[in-house]
Amino acid sequence: MSAEPAGVALIGSGSASPETVLTNQDLSDVVETSDEWIRSRTGIGERHVLSPEQGLKDIAALAGQRALAAAGVDASEIDLVLLATSSPDDLFGSAAQVQGELGASRAIAFDITAACSGFLVGLVTAAQFIRTGTYRKVLLIGADILSRWTDWGDRRTCVLFGDGAGAVVLTAHDTDNLLGFELRSDGTMNGCLTLPYQGSPNAIHPKANVAKGTYAPIQMNGREVYRFAAKRVPEIVEKALFHADITVEQVDWLLLHQANQRILDAVASRLKIPGEKVISNLAKYGNTSAASIPLALDEAIRDGRVKPGDIVASSGFGAGLTWGSAVFRWGI
Ligand code: UT7
Repeated sequence: MSAEPAGVALIGSGSASPETVLTNQDLSDVVETSDEWIRSRTGIGERHVLSPEQGLKDIAALAGQRALAAAGVDASEIDLVLLATSSPDDLFGSAAQVQGELGASRAIAFDITAACSGFLVGLVTAAQFIRTGTYRKVLLIGADILSRWTDWGDRRTCVLFGDGAGAVVLTAHDTDNLLGFELRSDGTMNGCLTLPYQGSPNAIHPKANVAKGTYAPIQMNGREVYRFAAKRVPEIVEKALFHADITVEQVDWLLLHQANQRILDAVASRLKIPGEKVISNLAKYGNTSAASIPLALDEAIRDGRVKPGDIVASSGFGAGLTWGSAVFRWGI
C-alpha cells in the first residue's frame, strides 16, 4: 500500500463471451418476433448465452485474465478486484470467487451492483482508491448473465439481452488519464426497469413472518427508459466533458452502453459526434448490461480502432435508474 496520491491510467483490456449464439431467427422460434423487427428497432442481430454448466465467475475470470495479459500485469500484483454485476453466481458476491480463480491472492474483492451503469461506477470507484494512494493496481470487470433472469416468453424484453464479460486493468500513474466524470441516480423511476425480489409470507414462528421467494424476471417499460436515455445521456456526457475540459471535437470515440442502436444514434446526433466515432457492437452481442462498455472497448482496442492516447467519452445508463459518464484517455 502506497501513501502517495497518484493519477490513474487504463492499461489493458480483455473480454469473454459464451459460445452459444442465438440469432434473431432463432428467437422467432420462441416468441412472435422477426429479424426485421429486432434489427430495425434495436440494431441487434444475435446474442451469446451462457450454458447452465458455466457460471458468471468463469467468463468474468476469463475476461480478467485476458485484461491482465494485455496489461502485462501478474494477478499477484492486483490490490483490488471490482466486479460490476447484477447477476452474481452467489448473492453474497462473486468478486471473491473471481479473485480466487485468478490467483489475485493479495487483492480485496467486492461486487458493485449498478446494473448497466455498473462499469462506469466501478471505473470511478477504482480511480478513487488509486488517486488517494490506497491501491496501485485494480482489475475492474463488468459481467452479466441476464439470460438467467429474462422472461423467455416476453418478446418485449427477451430479444434485447445477451451474456458477456469485459475487463480493464487500472494502475497508478504520474499523469491522470481519467479526465472527468459525473454519476447520477433517480430512484423515483425505479419501477421502469426492475428485477424484483418477490416473496410470500412464511410463518417461521407464531410471532414472526418472513418472506420466502425468489427474484422475478426482468420487467421494463421500454418507452420510458428510451426517453430517459435519449435525454439524460447527452446531458451527462456534456457534464463529464466539461469537468475534463475537453471539447466534443477532441473526442476520438463515443462509447455508450450498448442498449439500442437508435439510442446510440440519437445521443451522437445530439452531441454532434459523427457516426464513425461511435463504437457499436450491438449487432453481435445485444445488451450485455455491465459488460457492454468494456466488451465494446476491448474489441475496438484489439482491432486497432482505439489506440493509446485516444480520448474516449463513455456513458452507462439503466436500472436504478442510474446513469453516468466518464471521459478518459486510453493507455499510457
Ligand atoms: O440496459 C438498460 C437500458 N435499456 C434501454 O435503454 C432500453 C430502452 N428501450 C428500447 O430500446 C425500446 O423501447 C425497445 C427496443 C425496448 C422497444 O422499442 P419501441 O420502438 O419502443 O417499441 P414499443 O415497445 O413501443 O413496441 C412497439 C410495438 C408494440 O406493438 P403495438 O402495441 O404497437 O401493437 C409491441 O407489442 O412492437 C411490438 N413489439 C414487438 N414486435 C415484434 C415489442 N417487442 C416486439 C418484438 N417483436 N420483439
